[in-house]
Amino acid sequence: MSVYELRGVSYRYPTGSWALKGVDIRVERGETLAIVGPNGAGKTTLLKIMDALIMPTEGEVLFEGKPVTEETMTDRGFRRKVGFLFQSPDVMLFSATVLEDVAFGPVHLWGKEKGLEKARETLKLLRIENLADRHPYSLSGGEKKKASIAAVLSMEPEVLLLDEPTRDLDLRNRNFVLEMIKRWKSEGKTVVVVSHDLRLIRLADRAYVINREVLFEGTPRELFSRPELVERANLDVPEIVRLFHRLGIEEVPMSVEEAAEILKRMC
Ligand SMILES: Nc1ncnc2c1ncn2[C@@H]1O[C@H](COP(=O)(O)OP(=O)(O)OP(=O)(O)O)[C@@H](O)[C@H]1O
Ligand SMILES: [Mg+2]
Repeated sequence: MSVYELRGVSYRYPTGSWALKGVDIRVERGETLAIVGPNGAGKTTLLKIMDALIMPTEGEVLFEGKPVTEETMTDRGFRRKVGFLFQSPDVMLFSATVLEDVAFGPVHLWGKEKGLEKARETLKLLRIENLADRHPYSLSGGEKKKASIAAVLSMEPEVLLLDEPTRDLDLRNRNFVLEMIKRWKSEGKTVVVVSHDLRLIRLADRAYVINREVLFEGTPRELFSRPELVERANLDVPEIVRLFHRLGIEEVPMSVEEAAEILKRMC
């Protein structure tokens, strides 16, 4: 059974504009799925629908085979299973200290003692235990991002919906998030990630390109072997892929290491 099945999902904001039109998307258990598309394509809207924060104007969403309804919004079981990392950390941090923010969900779920313990553990995992007593508003952009990741992780969700998780992060922290996603993958968690970050997209098992409607579904490798699609998604083509195109080599390398292997084989 798929974790999510979206059938003909359309969404119109009260202003009258359609953010999504007839979207069919499936998310299988344990897979890492990338959603890419230009600014304003409806990616965040799509994640909000998956998190049951808004209901589609048309079409339906199934979560673990059951229809998502208004009741799902406040369903404890659903909230426990699905974690949503918002694009903007400011939406997620509202307490007086980082620790309180990260403990908010766990305390609600498991009570004060265990909740606080879980929060401290998560801060440690993200190597931000030094931020525990800071006011969220006083944090830098990257620190806020890590604090909001901690707030999602502390609930131990099975399904992670991540909206631009590496934006605002420096190289070391981007690598850290990539490693975390790899770990979740090996633990069998389901990850749906919206991103323009090529290194993150490469990690995915499958990718969808959307721009109000679905333009493409396939592996990241298939995506990067179609430059016209990459352009429509407003993504950079990796330098190494451009070099291979220029050299007339058909294979599409997903990393420098892979490119080296291909070239060695050819020599
Ligand atoms: N609350 C809202 N009211 C009216 N229109 C909205 C609202 N939120 C988003 N939109 C519009 O819906 C469309 C899709 O927005 P959405 O935030 O889903 O795009 P996105 O793909 O996440 O873009 P980005 O890459 O910039 O984050 C855009 O045209 C946007 O202006
Ligand atoms: Mg967005």
